[in-house]
Amino acid sequence: MGPFRPDLLKGKTVLVTGGATGLGRAMAEGFARHGASIALAGRREEKLQEAAEAFREAGHDVFVQSCDVRDPSSLSALADALDERFGGVDVLVNNAAGNFISPTERLSPRAVDAVLNIVLHGTFYATLEFGKRWIAAGRGGTMLNIVTTYAETGSGFVAPSAAAKAGVLALTRSLAVEWARYGIRQVAIAPGPFPTEGAWARLAPTPELAERMADRIPLKRVGDKQELADLAAFLVSDYASYLNGEVVTIDGGEWLQGAGQFNSLLEVTPEQWDRLAELTRTGGKGQ
Ligand code: HXC
Ligand code: NAP
Repeated sequence: MGPFRPDLLKGKTVLVTGGATGLGRAMAEGFARHGASIALAGRREEKLQEAAEAFREAGHDVFVQSCDVRDPSSLSALADALDERFGGVDVLVNNAAGNFISPTERLSPRAVDAVLNIVLHGTFYATLEFGKRWIAAGRGGTMLNIVTTYAETGSGFVAPSAAAKAGVLALTRSLAVEWARYGIRQVAIAPGPFPTEGAWARLAPTPELAERMADRIPLKRVGDKQELADLAAFLVSDYASYLNGEVVTIDGGEWLQGAGQFNSLLEVTPEQWDRLAELTRTGGKGQ
């Protein structure tokens, strides 16, 4: 059981890009459990069919269509199909992404484009396609953009992703103001590490790297997909209708741990603290 009423999203149709796998799928399942009709889009037909079957088995209303967010005509065909099937959508979740760790100096221009085209251009194209339709139809809507904590800070070894997600965050905040007059609301989630097949294969492909992910987090664990799905359900619901342009971080305190200058003192033992307490009281001379 989640924290919300089962009819929280009743009457809403939600499109999740990249919704057949990982966090997109977990969010979509959460929306469906709260009464929403669901549309999933992604490039791989077999992943979409697999997800559709699971949704239908659970008794949920689902529509899937293969779509490449890098291709505006593919998005337009998807939007046409959704107009026909549901009479349009109420919520767009820009979740599709591409990423991998690499020293930046090893990247080719094509490698940079591979990430920027999905994350920044794909999100922008989907936003344009559905935003224009909502404006033309005089109906409002909610856009939920999935970014990362390092969209604010930047991060080495994922520079294309950091640059692209920072762009998506800027888009979120720009349109929060510009499109509010059309009844279009913008929100974002910045997740810390949540193990998914897609992310772990490209960002933590060894057990050592995976362990390091959890170690950095003050709560000493990675996120549970359900925690993210519950946050997303609230943010796209009418109960969040005054939230606009906000990015909500869900990372167990990870990014703050990296930011605070003295946070590495978490490693100091109680005995070491006894000694340090003497030194800090005696100007570093001790007893
Ligand atoms: C260096 C790489 C590379 C790698 C691809 N390239 N993978 N370079 N290291 N690991 C280079 C290729 O050599 C090529 O350049 C160029 O990138 C394009 O490669 P393609 O394989 O043709 O790209 P494409 O088929 O478009 O695939 C895009 C992709 C792929 C991003 C590379 O991984 C993908 O489809 N990912 C989708 C799912 C995903 O990434 N999920 C994780 C999201 S996690 P050259 O010059 O050789 O031709 C996330 C959150 C992170 O975003 C936060 C965690 C805490
Ligand atoms: P994932 O399972 O790999 O999800 C990425 C999805 O995007 C896949 O379903 C993929 O499907 C789809 N996709 C990629 N390129 C696409 C394109 N061109 N057109 C349409 N769909 C495309 O990884 P995830 O971990 O769940 O990531 C989901 C979101 O969370 C991403 O925005 C990611 O940046 C964000 N995030 C994840 C974490 C984490 O720790 N997992 C942390 C911070 C942020 P196809 O390949 O079939 O197209």
